[in-house]
Amino acid sequence: MNSIVIVGLQWGDEGKGKIVDYLSENADVVVRFQGGNNAGHTIVIDDEVYKLNLLPSAVLRAGKISIIGNGVALDSHALISEIESLKTRGIDVNPSNLMVSESCPLILSIHKDKEKFFEDLNGNHKIGTTNKGIGPCYEDKVGRRAIRLCDLENTDELNNRVDTLLSYHNAIRQGLGYQVAKKEELLKEVAEIAKKILPYKKPVWQVLNNFVREERKIIFEGAQGTFLDIDHGTYPFVTSSNTVGSQAMTGSGFSSSAHVIGVAKAYTTRVGNGPFPTEQENEVGDSLFAIGKELGTVSNRRRRCGWFDAVLVRQAVQLSGVLSVVLTKLDILDSFDMVKICTGYRYNGEVYDYLPASHSIQKELEPIYEEFFGWKENTQGKKSVGELPVNLIKYVKKIEELIGVPIHLISTSPKREDVIEL
Ligand code: GDP
Ligand code: IMO
Ligand code: MG
Repeated sequence: MNSIVIVGLQWGDEGKGKIVDYLSENADVVVRFQGGNNAGHTIVIDDEVYKLNLLPSAVLRAGKISIIGNGVALDSHALISEIESLKTRGIDVNPSNLMVSESCPLILSIHKDKEKFFEDLNGNHKIGTTNKGIGPCYEDKVGRRAIRLCDLENTDELNNRVDTLLSYHNAIRQGLGYQVAKKEELLKEVAEIAKKILPYKKPVWQVLNNFVREERKIIFEGAQGTFLDIDHGTYPFVTSSNTVGSQAMTGSGFSSSAHVIGVAKAYTTRVGNGPFPTEQENEVGDSLFAIGKELGTVSNRRRRCGWFDAVLVRQAVQLSGVLSVVLTKLDILDSFDMVKICTGYRYNGEVYDYLPASHSIQKELEPIYEEFFGWKENTQGKKSVGELPVNLIKYVKKIEELIGVPIHLISTSPKREDVIEL
């Protein structure tokens, strides 16, 4: 098996970018297969910090191929500005090392407008989205009225598609009392970007299947996390794509088998609203936030913080067929006297060993914890198992036991090279 799928096992920001970058040293191709520029993947190389949103993490390594699959909601303006900003830092992304699926649905200004209108309407029940137009773009895809990258090539097709799209969006805008969107402006918006983005357009499914025949090593880079999955997450407080491992196939057209690796943080964080059973709205949460520098990569919002939830991570492992796990940010727990792991939930006199689907139950779950002594030792930047404190190893072993799969990598700092293979 030459292919690996990387998925987040919590609510995103587990450190997927760092791990994809680390693993891509031995890969040929990295593929994004869902989400869009709602993702923020941080990679630190020689003290230089890179924050990637749409571009696969392989762009930072010379000689690798990056692919954006059909499952991605594509904000072409954001992609071109990400490419241009990397160019100023000496990184050359061009059509020979980046390919974008011709089937990607495009995020347009009307999507960002719609997201804002509905978040405003939601009052106290806001999702707390990233405001990138992701949800409305996917709604149009499923509603069969999206404009896709391939439509930019054909003026007649584009004209028809814009008419269909605007008849839907303008009915809603008028209903809500907003100004209608004008066809000429939308066409202008699309035309501005077409020349720059079309050179990247490719039948990605075919490229990938050829790569499989050539036995190239491919990494599929997940965005967001399992509990933001539209089907399996804490609905409705989720993103609008599938984030589980099987989406790597649908979202790219790749059809071979792959080894699925999950990435989990040694505690839990969440940006935006929604249930979070192990959240610590106290000095523990404040310490995790401060030591972990838990500010959202995309929206700069404070991430909510809490203890490691083994129930969630075990569920995520099972949902994606994860065979091994990477644990990140253990170093953030270095100064804690005690650490806790959630092993079950209590609700209405019953004990749950999984996260029930109902929002009304999820928000009331009471976590059951096991408590462990901390290790009270600086582990940041450690590079071998021998340097790790006994209590840290015990913590990792307990997590392995609870989630049912081995932890094969530990990340010990934001830096590319600070990883321990177990
Ligand atoms: P992603 O969205 O899953 O790629 O994660 P983000 O990049 O949004 O957030 C993870 C943050 O943790 C980034 O700032 C990383 O640089 C940082 N990080 C990753 N692994 C480690 C680690 O092991 N220790 C520490 N201290 N920071 C880490
Ligand atoms: P990475 O790839 C953390 C969250 C938003 C919001 C919800 C829906 O960096 O892990 P959306 O804009 O997607 O419609 O917002 O999902 N969210 C993320 N949280 N990391 C991410 O990506 C996220 N992408 C979306 O905060 O709660
Ligand atoms: Mg992130």
